[in-house]
Amino acid sequence: EMGPEERQFQERINDEIKIEPKNWMPDAYRKTLIRQISQHAHSEIVGMLPEGNWLTRAPTLKRKLQLMAKIQDEAGHGLYLYSAMETLGADRDEEIDKLHDGRAKYSSIFNYPTLNWADMGTVGWLVDGAAIVNQVPLQRTSYGPYARAMIRVCKEESFHQRQGYQILLTMMQEGTDDQKAMVQDSINRFWWPALMMFGPSDENSPNSAQSMAWKIKRHSNDELRQRFLDQTVPQLELLGCTAPDPDLKYNEETGHYEFGEIDWQEFFDVVKGNGPCNRERIEARRSAIDNGAWVREAAVAHAAKRQRKAA
Ligand code: ACO
Repeated sequence: EMGPEERQFQERINDEIKIEPKNWMPDAYRKTLIRQISQHAHSEIVGMLPEGNWLTRAPTLKRKLQLMAKIQDEAGHGLYLYSAMETLGADRDEEIDKLHDGRAKYSSIFNYPTLNWADMGTVGWLVDGAAIVNQVPLQRTSYGPYARAMIRVCKEESFHQRQGYQILLTMMQEGTDDQKAMVQDSINRFWWPALMMFGPSDENSPNSAQSMAWKIKRHSNDELRQRFLDQTVPQLELLGCTAPDPDLKYNEETGHYEFGEIDWQEFFDVVKGNGPCNRERIEARRSAIDNGAWVREAAVAHAAKRQRKAA
């Protein structure tokens, strides 16, 4: 049975009125949001690593500037999201500690290596492309600070998606045979992991039903995966590339693309921490925090000194 506070809360949600930090909310709603927003923030931060890998080897100055700008945007998204999470009473340092000792999740996709320059195109096109499909509906999520954060994030993600696609298009249209082969190799490696970003299939998604009732999620994992596929296949064809999926085909009757079975064993292995780069990613984050400790200590000491002077 719902108490009067909970009934009022659910009515607000049903009426599409945002829940704000000072409004009453069920504990489980707060916990779910802290879980999702912290995982989302960690993904943005860890997501800088696979692209950072290519900054020193970008083929031209223009490409380097573009890649650097994109990676800095991701840092901004992470900081934005940690702030949204703090409005729920969560502690940023505690949540980041959980990432560093392996207790927190972040998107599976960032545990795959970036092996060639075309990966910078594919990550922008497929990974940021999938992120947009997931995040556009989050602009209408029921928690106000999260919804508002998504508006700017989505604008920046669509620039990322285009810059990635443009890298691939240039390689396919003006590149050598080796460069074209590099694009196809990259797509072969990222295709399935990108489809996995949307999470487990609906029947294996423990959080979906409650999150949909609270309008935290507006569409199911499978719905968004299908939407991504439908918009991506024509772009794949325009590139002149193929997907590593012999079962991929257009269904005239439904108007949707059909695809083969996702390797869920691989997905769960990566989520559990056993993907190709999980250990390397966490290690890179930990050493970044350790190497930056002196900067934070110096800033605190400086602030204390100024306070003493003012007093
Ligand atoms: N990688 C890692 N973990 C995942 C993934 C994934 N691709 N998909 C699902 N999971 C986890 C969920 O976090 C959940 O874990 P938990 O219950 O231990 O916290 C578990 O698998 C079961 O999945 P669901 O019940 O479907 O979980 P949920 O309802 O949270 O849906 C989803 C998952 C769709 C990712 C949702 O959390 C979401 O929309 N998050 C915001 C977007 C986001 O995080 N994007 C990050 C990648 S994009 C980018 O950063 C560029």
